[in-house]
Amino acid sequence: MISAPPILQMRGITKRFFSVPVLENVDLDATAGEVHAVVGENGAGKSTLMKILAGAHQPDAGSILLDGEEVRFSHPREAQARGVSIIYQEFNLLPERTVAQNIFLGREPMRGPVVDAGAMEEATAMLLTDLGVEHSISPRAPIRELSVAQQQTVEIAKALSFEASILVMDEPTAALSPHEVEALFARVRLLQSRGLAVIYISHRLKEVFDLAGRITVLKDGRTVGTVASDAVRPGELVRMMVGRELDHLFPPRAAPAEIGAVRLRVQGGAGDRLHGIDLDVRAGEIVGIAGLAGAGRTEVARAIFGVEPFTAGVVALDGKPVRIRSPRQAIRAGIGFLTEDRKREGLVLPQSVRDNALLAFRSIGRRQSGGEAASSRRSVVDLARLVELRAASLEQEVRYLSGGNQQKVVLAKWLATRARILIFDEPTRGIDVGAKAGIHELMRELARSGVAVVMISSELPEVIGMSDRILVMRDGTFAGELAAGASEAEIMLLATGEMETVSAA
Ligand SMILES: Nc1ncnc2c1ncn2[C@@H]1O[C@H](COP(=O)(O)OP(=O)(O)OP(=O)(O)O)[C@@H](O)[C@H]1O
Ligand SMILES: [Mg+2]
Repeated sequence: MISAPPILQMRGITKRFFSVPVLENVDLDATAGEVHAVVGENGAGKSTLMKILAGAHQPDAGSILLDGEEVRFSHPREAQARGVSIIYQEFNLLPERTVAQNIFLGREPMRGPVVDAGAMEEATAMLLTDLGVEHSISPRAPIRELSVAQQQTVEIAKALSFEASILVMDEPTAALSPHEVEALFARVRLLQSRGLAVIYISHRLKEVFDLAGRITVLKDGRTVGTVASDAVRPGELVRMMVGRELDHLFPPRAAPAEIGAVRLRVQGGAGDRLHGIDLDVRAGEIVGIAGLAGAGRTEVARAIFGVEPFTAGVVALDGKPVRIRSPRQAIRAGIGFLTEDRKREGLVLPQSVRDNALLAFRSIGRRQSGGEAASSRRSVVDLARLVELRAASLEQEVRYLSGGNQQKVVLAKWLATRARILIFDEPTRGIDVGAKAGIHELMRELARSGVAVVMISSELPEVIGMSDRILVMRDGTFAGELAAGASEAEIMLLATGEMETVSAA
């Protein structure tokens, strides 16, 4: 079957940033109709390799062949023109522009001297229909009004609009909930059956085994190997990635004696979507919040954190009613919020790791004396170690870190505030299998030290493995509560509302 030359051959790709080697002599092939996964730890070089393929970076050495012919891309447009499309890990959409404007940015259909908005919106509507999302996403909606999952879908529509023959997806499911992941998989398989080569990057090994025919492992910028997915076991793949055995067991749940008084009580509604919210979180426990994308999980977090505060009802901390009208007040009150969207809300990209780590701490006006500066220097070092950060130094600008390492800086930032209530929205999104266990351990230790932890997660094994109680959201409110150790099926029934259908029948 594989007689034609591979549609893509990358040979001996080498890349340095500021003379630090990031890729050394890396090879990667892809054939038409193949899903080829690329895996490896945070900072292994996956995204950099893909940016080279997409013309966003130039290699220092090595070559790229398409259909056997060598190409050199000095700009992403040149790669797009040759059928290479990429969906970046950190989305590239302009928040103030509409869906249609983003998809056709720089190549708008014109009518004479003016953009033909009607034609552009029509073409966008067709792309959205092709993806089955025409009812939930309007071509005219500004990007900033879309959820992360919807923005992701717009990125896919945009990539497809280039009539790609090679489609790179860099952690496409990181922002999606389980049923959206299934929808995405169906799309990937459809593209595969149309003869596209799909290069798929993910830290979720289950997805890699479900989708990919072959898997290439990178470690520290080098190729460890390429294996057929049916010829390798997950444990072996993990060993190739991290260089050691790893069986990820979740840390033990809280013992009853470790659970203290109610730290946070929230009752009420916010905006026009959240209603009937009734949430208690106790010191020492981790409360997991599950639900489909759009169910209102992040809105609850934003309401608690004062971004879009509760309009009706009560918020009480340690039994005392409080009014939290801004994130600043929330931080002062001892609440931390690790957002799901680190690029927009979590980090100041042109600043150093150190400054970012101290951002929330400083925003509440804790001035530092010389001695404190020295001790905070130590503590940032400690924090970086705790989250297993991989950066050249603490002075490195955050924008140059790999996606997973940026996430670790956000985590360090909230650890530095010594918050008593911590809300984690998708805490291990984009974190590699090795560091994930460490972050789970860290969350459990925070709870053990008396912090009340709220964890929003779309990864059901994480919700089940970490939570002392599980709340499931649907349509802007809590659909039900489940005890620790509930099954994936029970969570999904509540999240989709099918439980009621079953019992009503
Ligand atoms: N523009 C840049 N300037 C300097 N260093 C960079 C730049 N881009 C990436 N790096 C460095 O290159 C290394 C590889 O980063 P890359 O983003 O390719 O990793 P990755 O495998 O995609 O990781 P993750 O799983 O966290 O997304 C990292 O050490 C990163 O800090
Ligand atoms: Mg990456």
